[in-house]
Amino acid sequence: MLEFPMARAAGCPFDPPPAMQTLREQTPLTRVRISDGKTAWLVTRYAEQRALLADPRVSSDVTRPGYPSPMPVGERGAPVSFILMDDPEHARLRRMVTAPFTIKRIEAMRPGVQKIVDDLIDDLLAGPKPVDLVEAFALPVPSLVICQLLGVPYADHDFFQDNSKVIINRETAPEERRAAGDRLYAYLDRLVGEKLDNPGDDLLSGLTQRIRDGELARSDAAQMGVLMLIAGHETTANMIALGTLALLQHPDQLALLRESGDPKLVAGAVEELLRYLNITHSGRRRVALQDIEIAGQVIRAGEGIILANDIANRDPSVFEDPDRLDLRRDARRHVAFGFGVHQCLGQPLARMELQVVYDTLYRRIPTLRLATTLEEIPFKHDGAVYGVYELPVTW
Ligand code: HEM
Repeated sequence: MLEFPMARAAGCPFDPPPAMQTLREQTPLTRVRISDGKTAWLVTRYAEQRALLADPRVSSDVTRPGYPSPMPVGERGAPVSFILMDDPEHARLRRMVTAPFTIKRIEAMRPGVQKIVDDLIDDLLAGPKPVDLVEAFALPVPSLVICQLLGVPYADHDFFQDNSKVIINRETAPEERRAAGDRLYAYLDRLVGEKLDNPGDDLLSGLTQRIRDGELARSDAAQMGVLMLIAGHETTANMIALGTLALLQHPDQLALLRESGDPKLVAGAVEELLRYLNITHSGRRRVALQDIEIAGQVIRAGEGIILANDIANRDPSVFEDPDRLDLRRDARRHVAFGFGVHQCLGQPLARMELQVVYDTLYRRIPTLRLATTLEEIPFKHDGAVYGVYELPVTW
């Protein structure tokens, strides 16, 4: 039986593992063995993935025995948040934090994000080179933005970035992961406590009103804070750095983006890079609540399911010539943000941040280039979110 996750091919850092490509060609569903020795169904094709992600017989509840966790349950430390719960509790908690992520509210943040990006580029241009783009730009942009939105002091960024890194690394020892989760939870719990006494104009302060009204437990508020703080900076940071690397490796596409200035092309480029890179490469994890017949197979109640969205985003029945990075294509049907009730809450924010970054960075630094070789770049093969640990650049 095949093991999951599978390895990417050497020298093809942007493509999903070739074994997964082969599997998708052969069958929409197959059994795989995961890290804890259990088995799960690996779903490789786009249509079956969307069908299952939208199916109420499929659960995200990490505490169910068959759930194919990338890390053993019970080693997570602090309690889990709504990303690992089912409706109605998932919907009840998610609804409490949707308002700040509406398109209108996110668009109102665009000038502020533009200023953050411009200021960081000013600093880059004034500083020494080569420079690590991850440390100097890709991590600070989304970290500054999510801190502002949640009401977390940016001065604590080393603390939360370091702990997030430990949590999402698949190689982390269980006790280390638990300790990092506990530290982040304690930090968010203290912040929520401060905001209960002294609310400001931010998302966490908004949640304290719900605590006062008896609608929300303080522990749930803190855990939602942990989820949004991690999800809000890690993912987008990886898209900025890996996206930049992909563009540097595709100079014709980079030139298109740099010279266009057309907001529609930029928005389309963001969708295509999300599709092509699909950084959430560990698959969406689920467990069947009932027997489900799909594509000539029966997934039995209690069996684990892994929806490999990276390989679905390369499905040729949906995307023509899917392994080509083509910023002009219409890639909006991609599943890089997932699908169904758990589809990414922060996607309007991520899209806006990436549009500002991709539209600004390469125009302001037109000679941006790698200060090392592709072979020297450390990729996050061991992370739940794919990307690069460092990206040395110069200009
Ligand atoms: C490019 C950046 C991003 C990518 C690729 C991404 C990807 C995803 C994916 C694939 C899911 C679905 C998980 C599942 O079905 O199991 C998800 C959920 C989620 N994301 Fe994002 N995300 C990004 C940025 C953000 C940002 C900026 C936030 C800000 C808070 C965020 C917050 C969340 C939350 C709270 C969930 C859970 C939603 C739920 O369970 O209802 N994400 N994300």
